[in-house]
This record gives sequence, C-alpha cells and structure tokens, in this order.
Amino acid sequence: MRYSIATALLACAGSSAAQDFSNDGNYGAPFPDTVYPGFESKNPVVKEGAQSNQTSPPKYPSPWGEGLGDWAQAYGKAKSFVSQLTLEEKVNLTTGTGWQLDSCVGQTGSIPRMAFRALCFQDAPTGIRFTDYNSVFPGGINVAATWDRGIAYQRGVAMAEEFKGKGIDVALGPVAGPLGRTPEGGRNWEGFSPDPVLTGYLFADTIEGIQSQGVMASAKHFIGYEQEHFRQTAEFQNYGFNITEPNSANIDDETMHELYLWPFADGVRAGAASITVVCSYNQVNNSQVCQNSYLQNYLLKGELGFQGHIVSDWLGTHSGVASVLAGLDVSMPGDSTAYHSDDSFYGANLTIAVLNGTVPAWRVDDMAMRIMAGYYYVEGNTTRDEINFNSWNYDTYGYKHSYVGDDFGQINQHVDVRGDHGRLIREWGARSTVLLKNVRNTLPLTGKEKLTAVFGDDAGPNIDGPNSCSDHGCDNGTLAIGWGSGTANYPYLVTPDFAIQSEVLSKGGAYQAVLSNGALDSARSIARAANVSMVFANSDSGETYIEVDGNLGDRNNLTFWKGADEMIETVASECNNTILVVHSTGPVLLEKWENHKNITAILWAGIPGQEAGNSIADVLYGRVNPGAKLPFTVGKSRKDYGTDILYTPNQEVPQIQYEEGVFIDYRVFDKYNETPTYEFGYGLSYTTFNYSDLRVTKIQNVSDYVPSSGWTGAAPTYRNFSTDPADHLYPANFSRVELYKYPWINSTNLTEASADPHYALPGFIPENAQNGSAQPIPKAGGAPGGNPMLWDVIYRVEATVTNTGNVVGEEVPQLYISRGGPYDPVKELRGFQRLSIEPNCSATFVVDVKRKDIMSWSTVEQDWYVRNSTKKVYVGSSSRNLPLEGMLS
Ligand code: NOJ
Repeated sequence: MRYSIATALLACAGSSAAQDFSNDGNYGAPFPDTVYPGFESKNPVVKEGAQSNQTSPPKYPSPWGEGLGDWAQAYGKAKSFVSQLTLEEKVNLTTGTGWQLDSCVGQTGSIPRMAFRALCFQDAPTGIRFTDYNSVFPGGINVAATWDRGIAYQRGVAMAEEFKGKGIDVALGPVAGPLGRTPEGGRNWEGFSPDPVLTGYLFADTIEGIQSQGVMASAKHFIGYEQEHFRQTAEFQNYGFNITEPNSANIDDETMHELYLWPFADGVRAGAASITVVCSYNQVNNSQVCQNSYLQNYLLKGELGFQGHIVSDWLGTHSGVASVLAGLDVSMPGDSTAYHSDDSFYGANLTIAVLNGTVPAWRVDDMAMRIMAGYYYVEGNTTRDEINFNSWNYDTYGYKHSYVGDDFGQINQHVDVRGDHGRLIREWGARSTVLLKNVRNTLPLTGKEKLTAVFGDDAGPNIDGPNSCSDHGCDNGTLAIGWGSGTANYPYLVTPDFAIQSEVLSKGGAYQAVLSNGALDSARSIARAANVSMVFANSDSGETYIEVDGNLGDRNNLTFWKGADEMIETVASECNNTILVVHSTGPVLLEKWENHKNITAILWAGIPGQEAGNSIADVLYGRVNPGAKLPFTVGKSRKDYGTDILYTPNQEVPQIQYEEGVFIDYRVFDKYNETPTYEFGYGLSYTTFNYSDLRVTKIQNVSDYVPSSGWTGAAPTYRNFSTDPADHLYPANFSRVELYKYPWINSTNLTEASADPHYALPGFIPENAQNGSAQPIPKAGGAPGGNPMLWDVIYRVEATVTNTGNVVGEEVPQLYISRGGPYDPVKELRGFQRLSIEPNCSATFVVDVKRKDIMSWSTVEQDWYVRNSTKKVYVGSSSRNLPLEGMLS
C-alpha cells in the first residue's frame, strides 16, 4: 500500500532551494562583470553559458549502481549484505547521527544486528584532524609542486595508514575542488593545482594510495567551490552580508567538462576508486549542488559512471526527498539546517518518504548499496579497528556523546599512528621546494659561512604552542599548513630557526635570529654583519568559518602577511647575500624581489608540514637538489590573473560568472601574452638540463572512437519491507540519546511522524524521478570515469633530457598540446614525469597521449570529439620554456 502525503517532505523551511527544480527563480537584476575588462571570454559558448541566474536542467532518475568496471565483486558482496537489511538499517547507513554526538566529524548509524559498527568519516586531506599522535603532511599544493606521481601515491598510503590506525573508514580527501580558479582562493592549498591534468593525475594517485590501505577516499568538493566568500548563507549573514542563498558558480558545459570535471573523471576512474564525493556548499547554475540532479545524477553518476556514494558537505544538504531523488546518498553530519538541530532531512524523514512512496524503494536500496559497495571495494571484510579517538575532547576520559554530555568512559586511546612518516614528510617537503632564483651560485650554502642570520616571524615558533589556534586559525610563527578543516594537529613542528641553527652550530659557525618582523633595528645591524641572511615570509589562507587578520578564508591580497615586506627590504638593503624563503598557500607577488640586486636566491617552500625546518635546511645546504616546479603562475600583478574572488555580493544570491571559461592561470597569461614573474611549471636546480630529440609516434591500429550506447538494466531492489507505519515505530523501551538522528518514526500518522518542522511545505516530484526502468547510457559514459575509449593511447611522445651540470639532479620535463581550435588555449599541459639524472647522463621522457588529451567537448552532441584543426606538441622545462616542438599528424 502506498501513502499519498509524500510530497510534504520535499522542502526545507527557509530554503527556497529545496527544489533542484527551483532554479527558475528570478534572483534580481543582472549583475556587473566580475571579470577584469579585457579578459572577458571571446568564446560565445562560454559567454552564454556563464550568465547570471542561469539554470541547471533537471535530470532524473538517479542512476543506480550496477557494479561497473572493477566494482562487480564489491557489488556482489554489498548485495548479500543489503539484502538482509531492514528499511531502518538502510536508512541508518545514509544518515549522520548528529554533530559532536559521536567520535568522528561524521558518523553514520550502526547495524548492531549484523555486528556492523558505524562508519566513521574524518577530515583531513593533510592528516587526521582533531586527534593526537598523528602526522601533518605537506599540503596538496606541495604535492603538486613535486610533479611526482609516486609521492602523491605514497603520501596517500602514509595518510591512510594513520586513518586506518584510528579506526576511520572514510578519509575526507583528497581535494580537486577548489581547483584554483582564483589565486586568492582560501582552500586552494588543500588541492593540487589550477591545471586539471596535473591535479587529475595527483588526485587519482592519492585516491589509489589511500584506498590501497583499506580506507575509503572522499574525493571533494564536487564542484564549483572555488571561493570561500558566500559559500553558505548563515555563515556570511553572521559576517554581516545580506545574502539569502549560497553563491552560484555559473559555469558553461564546455568549461565544466574541459576544466572542473576533468580531475573528477580521473578520480572516479582511478581503479574506479573514488568512493565518496562530497557535494559542495555552493550552488552551480543556481541550484544547490547537493540537490542538483544535473551534476549528481547526470554528470557524476551518469556520464562518469560513479559507483560509490555521494555524501553532502557538512550542512550542505538543503532538503530531504529533493536531495535523495537528485542523487545525494549520505547526509552529514545528519543535522538539518544548523549544527545541533534535533531533526534531520534524512533519518526518520527518509523512512517516511520510502513508506509513503515519495522515494522509491529502489532508490534507498541504491543508496545503501553504494555505501556498502564502497566499503567492500576497499575494506573487503567486516573486521575493522575500533574507533579509538574522540574529535571533541582530547582527554582520556569523557562523554562519548560529547555535545549532550552522555555516556562517560574512555574516549581516547591516544594510539600513535605516525610510523616513520616524519622521515617521509621531511623528504617530501624538500622535494616540493621550488628554487625560483639563484644568482652567483648562492645556493647551496656550504655551512661554512662565518655568520648566518635568519629573520622573520615565519622562521620561528608560535610561542603559544604549534596547536594553540584551533584548526590553525592564526598566522603565528612559521607557516607549515593552512587553516580550517583541512588541517591536523602537529605532533611537533620543526621551525626553520631550529633546523638552521642546528646546522650552523654543528659546523662551528655563528648564528643570529630575529624572529619578529617588527624588530627592524635589530635586523638591520645583524644583516649588516652577516655573511648570509635568510628572510622567511608567508601568506596564509583557509576555510571561512575562521577569520584571520581580516581574511575570510580567501586571501584579501597576494602580498606577504605580518609586515614581512618591510623586513625583506630592511635586510636586503644591508646584506648583499639575502635569501628569501616563502611559505604560502598559493602565489605571492615576487616581482620586486626577483629584481632586487641583493636578493640572491628565492625559494617557494609552500606549506610543507611538520618537518618544515628540516626540509628547507636540506635544500639550503644541498642535501637535496631542488627539482620541484611551480604548480601555478606567479604573476607580476594580481590583475594579470583575470579572475578574482567576488568579495561583495552582487545580488542577494551572489552570482559568480565563469566567463573566463578555461582561461585560468597560465592559460590566461598565454592568451593575453602577459609575462609572469615565474611561469607555471618553472623551477631551477643546482644543475642544468638540456632537451633534445623529440619523437612523436602515432600508435597503430587504434580503433575509432565509438560513443557508448545501449541501456542500463532496470533498478534492482533488494528487500521488501512492510508498508505499515506501525512496523517502523521506535522499538519499545528504546533509550534515545538526546539530539541523535534515528531512522524510526514517532507515530503511525505519517504526517506527524517525524516531528520535523521542515515537513510542512508542499512540493512536487520531478518528472521521471521515480522511474526505475532501464535508462540510456550516455555517449561519454559507460564505465567509471567515462567512455573507456577516451583513455586509448593514440600517440607516444618521447624526448631526451640530459644533465649538463656537475651534480645529480631531478628534472620535470613537461608536454603541452595545442588543440588548435579558435577558442582553445595556446597550449595545455598533458603529461609530465619527474626524472632523476646523473651528471652527463641522459634520460628518456615518455608520455602516452590519450585520445581525450586532444579532444574537445561538444555541447550539442554531449560527447567528446576531435576538432579538425592542427595539433602541436611542445616539450620543455616549463610552460614558457619549450624548446622542442612537433606536430600530431
Ligand atoms: C566542511 C568542509 O568544507 C569539508 O571539507 C569538511 O570535510 C567538513 N566540513 C567536515 O569537517
């Protein structure tokens, strides 16, 4: 029997966006360009697809997982498990129990009958957040600077060993959104690079590394989450802004495919391993991402054939049924519109929605299947370590349900999960340090300098302790990681002052440090006497729930923080051997220092993690020969980037036009022929390299591209359930934890059952949303990541790289392709390799060019195609130093 009151669950009070189908709303007057004059897109497709108030088309039904690719076995196991579950048990898998009510930042309900404990979701992409005896790894941006796929994989392995050791099931990372549309973006450092190919490889390798250890990787944040400002409504209302909905990233179809979706395709394809996709806070084309059927149903689960589950970002869920039908599988942390609310859009409301027929039984089965298939895909069995930490209280004993003060006992076992990761972090910190300037052979230092002097706040400690600011929400002392949920507590932090002092003293030299940017007089006299001066300067950013020095997550500028420029100027005016070391979460303007005659070396060390001091000392003193390359462009001025944060709302629903299309970072510098200070891909070494002998080979007998076709099966269901509400009431004598989200209902009258204030608004079921019959397979789809033929290798490009200097060194040859269309970028990165080469020796750089690498997205065909244009390849050491050039026939 079906109940007809279902539609009551569609909407959430206070959220006009309860309908994905709602984005036909008029949000006010057209808004002014956010793009700098002269940088508007000249591509009409992009321009038209990046309009204020544009909408996102409805796409239903939500595709059901079918065990595509190498997921068949995991789906088989999931089927045996899910087939045994009651409706409440399935619902329990989909719903967080509530913010700060269990050990992890997000925890689902458990299934005691099947001895299945709750699934633990925990930050962060740089180490485990909110615990102890864990490591702080280099930020994603540093991994990108290594251009080393092996490091990306190994860092994933090491991080997952730690997550596993604490009993965590889902690691909330890695990050490919933000990609880095604007250099000021607060969370760019959690991800890799504004280049989708560099990010795509490292994102996929990290996922594989994490999942090799039996931990599910949560590829986040999907998608268009490119700035912190206005990502959430209440957060920015609290900051005094008049907004009524999160910002809308207005992105055209071509830009979506060729730029922002690209790394997610790689992530999903990575052994079909991208298990969890955190839908983001923002809207895309005026529809909340977590209930955007076009993004979740059509792009992610349809075209990319994603077989895992989609989990909301925390409080990113804006509705119940609308989100479920639009593809959202898990709602975290379970609370509805605010943390600590006593109701949920999922939980009991989902049970009711299934009972009354609004949510078809196959859909809740699919949700449970996707969660359990991911679990079996990586973990393989049901024996897991217990969750042995508590995010909300570091004491050994405390309340297990922390926020409500319930169930006292041991909550932290303080398990030391670090292994020998400190050694790896030190190495990766050094191997991600980019040498930008090195005149008169300043570097490497010998250690024999008579007086070594170190300057700047950024060289020293946070005197209140390295973890004194929650989630590192301050910029005190050396900057080794950004702030926000992307961070972890330091087990220790080796400062540059400590490491360099130890180095100098061990070699018998003299050492002075001035660790306050304000102490200019003292700095002046020490710099005058020093044989070598090193100034450390930084620029920080993070997540918007913490404001640091007036920066609401996104940086307000691209200059140094805490008066570091004055310190640099002071020292450099006194010492003609001044080295500048930059710790930053993204590009900083360096033109002035590049041109300064007394600044003899500049290094970008990024945010290297807990071994920051040792890593930089290894490079400064030549134990590590720098081989890293910039994963972004350092422009001469902020304006040159052509994109910027929208800092002031242009409507009550801020509209961010992605009119620049794919022209971000080096693509825009190339397009307008702007000379940067240091280009994308640039980085020096203590040796030199020569490039020669480009070979382009067309692979024979590759079949022509065939769009996918055919139909899926019909939606499977795995267990019938009683439709009698009486069978779904709370069990007798059940003792509830206050504020906990449960799957049972309160009353047999389903309209009253949930006691949910968000229950009252009428809505409607979008056409086809309940249709479980076979569906057409998208042309660009058919397997995890998309049509497998997109990955066919069609050319092999090779070149010879020779070490022409005196020391062994590492070089990253890069392959760029020009697709040759009228609106295409001048060139785009398509391959790279980090090679270690002995002096006077050569190595062969090899890149397999895939079909997708030369294809363009057709908005009409909804598929990839090869445009009839002249295609060229370029090989060299950076995006502006490409001595080898050839044609793709
Ligand atoms: C919000 C952040 O955007 C997300 O990255 C994080 O995983 C969750 N909070 C949980 O802390």
